[in-house]
Amino acid sequence: MLLCIETTCDETAAALIDRDRRVLSSAVASQEEIHQRFQGVVPELAARAHLERIVPIIQQVLDQAGIEAARELSAIAVATEPGLPGSLLVGLAAAKGLCVAWQKPLIAINHIQAHIYACQLTRQENIYPCVGFVVSGGHTNLYQCHSADDWKYLGGTIDDAVGEAFDKVAVMLGLPYPGGPHISRLAKAGDACKYALPRPMLADRTTLNLSFSGLKTAVRYHLVGTGKQDFSTLSLSLQQQQDMAASFQQAALDCVVGKAELAMHRTGGPRLCIGGGVAANSLLRAQLSSMAQRIGVELLIAPLELCTDNAVMGAIAWEFYDRGQFAPLDIDIHAGLQRGA
Ligand code: KG4
Ligand code: ZN
Repeated sequence: MLLCIETTCDETAAALIDRDRRVLSSAVASQEEIHQRFQGVVPELAARAHLERIVPIIQQVLDQAGIEAARELSAIAVATEPGLPGSLLVGLAAAKGLCVAWQKPLIAINHIQAHIYACQLTRQENIYPCVGFVVSGGHTNLYQCHSADDWKYLGGTIDDAVGEAFDKVAVMLGLPYPGGPHISRLAKAGDACKYALPRPMLADRTTLNLSFSGLKTAVRYHLVGTGKQDFSTLSLSLQQQQDMAASFQQAALDCVVGKAELAMHRTGGPRLCIGGGVAANSLLRAQLSSMAQRIGVELLIAPLELCTDNAVMGAIAWEFYDRGQFAPLDIDIHAGLQRGA
């Protein structure tokens, strides 16, 4: 079995996955309470929290599964890119140390491709080839994926990630961080047509790029006008919160679904795989399903519990293990986004 480690952003996670992609144990230590008062992830605090949590969380998954690591592990896999540098370094250093101590090979994982691979764990069927779409707090990117390590960037956000837009609008509405789930909950009772908000770049069929910062600014202008930036003094009624949550959510999701559809037309399909934190959004799941049905493509969405960051999606490492693709022990992290072949 594989020990998979994930520390790209603000979740410290570990999991043990067997060759049939079955999860023997999995644990995620969230840092939500640390970053909540800053209304976003503070990279230095995230790295320090990973340092405190990484050894206990690995110990926890080994204990839960009753595994004797040195004898029973096949390899150790860790997400080395993309992510926050300090956070990535903690996971990689832990993985390297354990590889040396237990004499195991190291496997490097691309976190974005792992988010897409979470769809493989929906039906336990091969997902490749597919169009992979990652919609998370850090990324909103479309890929043509031929296999776990052969993929091409098709387009993505030119400014904020869609999850980041959810989180920032949530701050304007006085909701806790991370705001996505709160917006989604409030939106259920709101009127999505109440506020006329833009769908930036949606009508431009020449590009698979997206943009969310103008939408976010439009929400701000509706709430406080063009001058004021202080939301702490803003007092919104519940109805206003609900209507803005619904209007913003619909605008953001229209962009995501619209570009997903365009990507399927452009590539000729046949399969669309969606992962990342925002893929947990129930309205997005429903609207993607109707779109996929309408245009006749197969849709796989990551299981709900594997949308936000976790180590189980590190099961992608089996694809590399089977091909003997191991990483050297002097491999470094890669914080930025690579665009593939
Ligand atoms: O994948 P993830 O855990 O972290 C990154 O790799 O970025 O995604 C976290 C993001 C946050 O922005 C959060 O607000 C958003 O996913 N999110 C949601 C929902 N659940 C989480 N956004 C909209 N609706 C949701 N139900
Ligand atoms: Zn992620």
